Amino acid sequence: MRLQGQTAIVTGAGSGIGKATAVMCAEEGAGVLCVDLRAADTTAAAITAAGGRAASFAMDVTDSQAWGKAVAEAAKLGPVSLLANVAGVVSRGPDTVLEQTEEEWQRVIDIDLKSPWLGMRAVMPGMIERGGGRIVNVASLAGEIGLINLLAYSAAKGGVIAMSRQAAMEHAKHGVKINSVAPGIIDTPILGDTTAEMTKIFSAATPLGRLGRAEEIAGVIAYLFSPVADFVTGQCYTVDGGWGAQ
Ligand SMILES: NC(=O)c1ccc[n+]([C@@H]2O[C@H](COP(=O)([O-])OP(=O)(O)OC[C@H]3O[C@@H](n4cnc5c(N)ncnc54)[C@H](O)[C@@H]3O)[C@@H](O)[C@H]2O)c1
Repeated sequence: MRLQGQTAIVTGAGSGIGKATAVMCAEEGAGVLCVDLRAADTTAAAITAAGGRAASFAMDVTDSQAWGKAVAEAAKLGPVSLLANVAGVVSRGPDTVLEQTEEEWQRVIDIDLKSPWLGMRAVMPGMIERGGGRIVNVASLAGEIGLINLLAYSAAKGGVIAMSRQAAMEHAKHGVKINSVAPGIIDTPILGDTTAEMTKIFSAATPLGRLGRAEEIAGVIAYLFSPVADFVTGQCYTVDGGWGAQ
């Protein structure tokens, strides 16, 4: 129960890594506001059925007005001390210099890069007032190394890593610890219609020889939220089965 007495907002909580993060934070004792476009209520219901504390809030993370409402909603569970910006998308079409469209570029940048900023901006005044808090922004291995067909996505995720580092420097004096996590290939619905053949290629490219599990990213986020990580800020934790180390 490393997060007893804490209150978390977790975005993307309806699926994959966000869902696993919400569940793990609740298992560690935090009250959790599960935020997503859809299905956050299912995650919150599963948490409460298991004896945890949770509520849900349906919103688009790119909607700056909605962020104020989310913080007010979370405050019913307790003052917000933790934020996990997990919601994200990959490009719907080809994501290369020559094929990406301006519209889709903007959609990816807004969801993957702008929304973590909106989230930080919404929770940080309260954290500063109360003397601290912890924020984890989910980036990607694509923000650290070149991977094919991820132009806008790589730009956004590289931005998340840089933005988190900058914000950590700015707000260390306020006791707000801000880190990012860069997952490799994790077996969640974002992989969409990834074929068995692609899964084999991804697994073969990963020194540990398999795709990651959502819980393996959630575990690192929960660690960064816990007192054990009290001296950690401004870092990016890569959790990729060794892919990026090659
Ligand atoms: N799965 C991977 O291989 C992988 C690798 C690196 C990084 N990531 C990152 O991890 C995060 C979680 O992805 P996942 O793998 O769990 O995928 P997922 O598709 O299972 O979950 C993403 C969630 O984000 C939500 N979401 C998307 N746009 C939203 C919006 N505008 N407002 C509110 N919610 C929105 C979706 O509804 C969905 O529930 C993303 O930021 C993703 O980029 C995933």
